Amino acid sequence: MGRRKIALIGAGQIGGTLALLAGLRKLGDVVLYDIAEGMPQGKALDLSHVAPVFGLDFSVTGTNDIADIAGADICVVTSGVPRKPGMSRDDLVKTNADIVRSVAAGIREHAPGSFVIVITNPLDAMVYLMQKETGFDPKKVVGMAGVLDTARHEAFLAAELELSVNSVSAFVLGGHGDTMVPVRSYTTTNGIPITKKISDERLTEIENRTRKAGGEVVSLLKTGSAFYSPAASAIQMVESYIYDERRLLPACAQCNGEFGVDGMYVGVPVIIGKAGVEEIVEIDLTDDEKSQFQKSVEAVQSVVDIL
Ligand code: NAI
Ligand code: 2OP
Repeated sequence: MGRRKIALIGAGQIGGTLALLAGLRKLGDVVLYDIAEGMPQGKALDLSHVAPVFGLDFSVTGTNDIADIAGADICVVTSGVPRKPGMSRDDLVKTNADIVRSVAAGIREHAPGSFVIVITNPLDAMVYLMQKETGFDPKKVVGMAGVLDTARHEAFLAAELELSVNSVSAFVLGGHGDTMVPVRSYTTTNGIPITKKISDERLTEIENRTRKAGGEVVSLLKTGSAFYSPAASAIQMVESYIYDERRLLPACAQCNGEFGVDGMYVGVPVIIGKAGVEEIVEIDLTDDEKSQFQKSVEAVQSVVDIL
């Protein structure tokens, strides 16, 4: 079997970190594509010098020509612009939508068999657009947000309980934004309901911190947004696909009736294996969680309506 080819569309903060992680975890040959001239080539050259340090034969190439993603098995899309002062949310949606449309055309032409993981914000609308523009089977187009939002929630809960992160299990569903739904009824410490360990009031505070964790990072960094944890989260999804692990992960997938959602992309529990999104796993939500989820779906719809 030949080496896998992983195309990283966007070689910025997350794209560069993805390339490093993919190399260190020996996932395949990486192509870093970006419109910024010289930048992906520079990052690729720097990364190629990591290989001898760790004795790893990974290959990373940088390019400004999207044709170089030809035959990629996986495309991870981070291309986009951040929101700038004075830019409305609608302006951001339209700008990043144009970028997603242009890279979707490249993916459709040069990597028609690939599994596409979108990270660009506003996440749920950009995944929806990517599927529409590529025309790919919805099983092969997915968005990364739930793994990250869940990891943030688990990290906060583990810190609160002074427990290993391995002993905390949570699920954050819905859209990637302030309306996301940390599903309390499925949050446990090794199966023990979280409500037995943390008061409702404190849980609400932690859930709210999770909802705003991306913004908390932004306000500390001053420029840019989180990139280590988003890259790590996408790598988990890549590995579930290439190794056919069939991990049950929260991810932005197209629902066709599941959770009462029809034809929209939103964060739900999915199984990722060699066919892509192999199953959407419906779980029973409490009435309160259902209503939170519904509000989140409406928030996603309002962004999709801008497209
Ligand atoms: P960044 O600004 O460092 O990188 C974005 C890159 O896209 C830049 O290098 C830029 O030159 C490139 N780009 C712009 N237009 C392009 C085009 N037409 N073709 C190819 N490349 C193009 O941003 P960063 O930190 O890597 O974040 C990337 C995206 O991920 C942002 O939209 C950000 O909001 C989003 N994000 C999403 C998260 C999630 O959970 N889904 C979490 C964190 C960030
Ligand atoms: C994050 O959650 C900004 O979506 C980005 O870090």
